[in-house]
Amino acid sequence: MSNIDLPFKRYTITSALPYANGPLHIGHLAGAYVPADIYVRFLRLNNRDVVYVGGSDEHGAAITIKAKKDGTTPQAIIDRYHAQIKESFAQFGISFDIYHRTSERIHHELSQEFFLNLYEKGEFVEQVTEQYYDEEYHQFLADRYITGICPNCKNEGAYGDQCEKCGTSLNPTDLINPVSTLSRKPPVLRETKHWYLPLDKYQPWLEKWLLEGKKDVLKPNVYGQCRSWLKSGLQPRSMTRDLDWGVDVPLEEAKGKKLYVWLDAPIGYISATKQWALDTGNDWEKYWKKQADPADDSCLIHFIGKDNIVFHCITFPSILHAHGEYILPENVPANEFLNLEGDKLSTSRNHAVWLHEYLEEFPGKQDELRYVLTSILPETSDSEFTWRDFQARVNNELVAIFGNFINRVLVLSHKYFEGKVMPAGGLTDTDRFIFSELERYPKHIAASITHFRFREALAQFMNVARLGNKYLADAEPWKVIKTDEERVKTVLNVGLQIAANLAVLAQPFLPFTARKMTEMLRLDKCDWEQAGNSTLLPAGHQLGEAQLLFEKITDDQITAQLAKLSTAVIDSKEPTVELVDAKDPIEFEDFVKMDIRTGEILAAEKVAKTKKLLKLSIDTGIDQRTVVSGIAEFFAPEEIIGKQVAILVNLEPRKIKGIVSQGMILMAEAPDGRLEFVSPQSAMRTGSVIR
Ligand code: 2FM
Ligand code: ZN
Repeated sequence: MSNIDLPFKRYTITSALPYANGPLHIGHLAGAYVPADIYVRFLRLNNRDVVYVGGSDEHGAAITIKAKKDGTTPQAIIDRYHAQIKESFAQFGISFDIYHRTSERIHHELSQEFFLNLYEKGEFVEQVTEQYYDEEYHQFLADRYITGICPNCKNEGAYGDQCEKCGTSLNPTDLINPVSTLSRKPPVLRETKHWYLPLDKYQPWLEKWLLEGKKDVLKPNVYGQCRSWLKSGLQPRSMTRDLDWGVDVPLEEAKGKKLYVWLDAPIGYISATKQWALDTGNDWEKYWKKQADPADDSCLIHFIGKDNIVFHCITFPSILHAHGEYILPENVPANEFLNLEGDKLSTSRNHAVWLHEYLEEFPGKQDELRYVLTSILPETSDSEFTWRDFQARVNNELVAIFGNFINRVLVLSHKYFEGKVMPAGGLTDTDRFIFSELERYPKHIAASITHFRFREALAQFMNVARLGNKYLADAEPWKVIKTDEERVKTVLNVGLQIAANLAVLAQPFLPFTARKMTEMLRLDKCDWEQAGNSTLLPAGHQLGEAQLLFEKITDDQITAQLAKLSTAVIDSKEPTVELVDAKDPIEFEDFVKMDIRTGEILAAEKVAKTKKLLKLSIDTGIDQRTVVSGIAEFFAPEEIIGKQVAILVNLEPRKIKGIVSQGMILMAEAPDGRLEFVSPQSAMRTGSVIR
C-alpha cells in the first residue's frame, strides 16, 4: 500500500539478547519480543527486505553468578538455558531469522575485531585505577559482583554497572555502601589496568545525533532518559573486565582480562546477522554498514526493555560511531516494565509466569497470551498482567467477539450454501458502510504499527472484529433465511469479506490464528496490500472446514494459576513447605556400612527408549564403573561431564534396562521435584570418603 510509512529499502531489526541464565517469563515477551515480532511480520507482509536477529547473551556476571549458585559451570548454564529460551521463542512464534548465541566463535572474533579497531585508532583511554576487590574470593568486583545504594535514586540493590530501578549507568565506585555479592562483605581497593571508552569525548556528538536529531523520533520515555544522562555529563566507561568468563581482550598485555559484556553483547546482533548471511547466502554488510549512497542504508531498530536504554542509545552508538563504518539506530522503541498481580516480576521470588510452564498448562494457546500481552504492553508506562484480566480478555474479546463472528459466518455459509461464497446482490447502506470501514482500518493499523503503538494497532484490529460481529448480529441471517435467501447470500458475502480481511490483518499479532483462518477460508493472497479489499473472496469460492479459533478460559484454570503464584512466593521464602517426614531411626552401624565417595563423571549418554535414565561412566578413585541414574529430565549428558558427585559405591549391582548399574549417585530433591547433584564445595581428590 503506497501510503504506508516505511521509507527505507531495508530493515535490520533486533530484540535484546536475553541472558542465558534462566527461563523466559511474560515480562520478556512484553518488553522486547512481541512488539518486535509484530513489527517484523508487518514489514514482511509489506514485502520489505528485513532481517530480524536475536540470540542469547552468554557472557557477563549474570551467567557466572548463576553457575556459582547452581554449583555448575557457566558452559552448562548457557547450554541449558540457550536451548530452553530458543524453544520458548519458537513456540510463541517470535519469528527470528536467526536465534544465535554470543559464545560462538564468529561472535568472539567480531567482538575482538571491534575492540582492536577502536584500540588502533587510539580511541580507548588506558588507565590504572583502584577497583573494588574481594579478598576472600580473590576477585575484582564489577557489574553484578557488587551491589550497593544507587547514588541517583537510593535503590538499595543497584549493581556495579547499573541501577535497574532508575536505569542510570554506574561505576562500582559510585555505589554507596558497596558489598561484594560473593562474600557479602565490603570490598577493598586494588590497582588494575583497564581500557575506557571516552563517552565524555563523544558527548557533543551524542547531543547532536540524539538530542537534536531524534527529538521527534524517540518515544518520550526513551528520549527523557537520554536527555537526563547527557545533562548530568557522561563519564568514560571501562570496556574490559578482570573476569575469567567472556571474550578475551585481544591484547598481549591484557592477558586474562575479558571484554565488558556490554561491549560484546550488542555486537552479538551483528555476529548473528553474519551467521545468518553465511547460512543463507546473503550479504550481511548491507544490513549493518553505511552504503556508498546513504539512501541505501538499512534502517536499524533495537527493541528492548527500559533497563537497556543507556546501552542502546549511548554506549553502543558511540562504539559504532567510533568505528565509523556502521549505521546507527534509527529508533530504539524501549518498553517500560510489566508487573504481575500488583507486584514486580521477580525471578528470585519466583513471582512470574514462566513461558515454558504456560506452554504446558495452556497448550496451543500462544496467541491468547500474545493477544493479552499486546493489549497491555507497557509502551508508555509500567503496566500490569493479572490472571483475571487474562481470562476476561480471552473470554470477552477473543471468544465472544472475534471467534464467535468467524465461527458464525463460516458455519452459516456451510449450512446454507455448502461452504460456497455467494455473490453479493443489492448492497444496503450498512453493507456499503462496512466496505468503507474495511478500506479505512488497514491504513490506521499500519500507521499505529509503524509508530510503534502496538496496543492501539491491536485495539483497531479488534474494532474490525467488533464490526463483523455486530453486522451479523444485526442482520440476523438465521432469521432472514426463512424469508429472503437472496439477502442472506449478500450478508454472508459481506461477513466473509470481513473475515478474510481479519485473516490478513491478524497476521502480525496472532500468527497461529491467522494461519488457521487462511486455511478455513482457503485464502491464498495474504499480503498486507490485500487488506481493505472487499472482494478478497470471489463469488463461487469454496471455503474450508469451520474450526473453533478460541475457547473459554475457565475459573478453575485461573484459580490454579493464582494458587501457584502464591505458593511460589511462599516457596521462595520458605523452601521447606513440602518436605517429607523423617524416616525411622537407624543404628550408627547401619550408616557406616555405606561407602560413599567423591566420584567424577567421565562420560554420559541417554539410555535408549527411556525418558529419565542416563548411563554414566564414573571414576570412583578406586575404579571406573557404570551407573544408571534417573536424572535425564534435568541434565543434558554433555553438561555434566567432569562434574564431581557423591556416589554410593558398595550398593549391590542391579540390572536396569539391561545395563548393570554399579552404585548410586546421591541427589538432592527440591520440593518441585527438581534434582541437583550433591557435590563437595570445592574440588576434592576423586575417591575421597564422604561420611
Ligand atoms: O539485560 C539483558 O538481559 C541483556 N542481556 C540484554 C542484552 S541486549 C544486547 F545488547 F545484547
Ligand atoms: Zn537508581
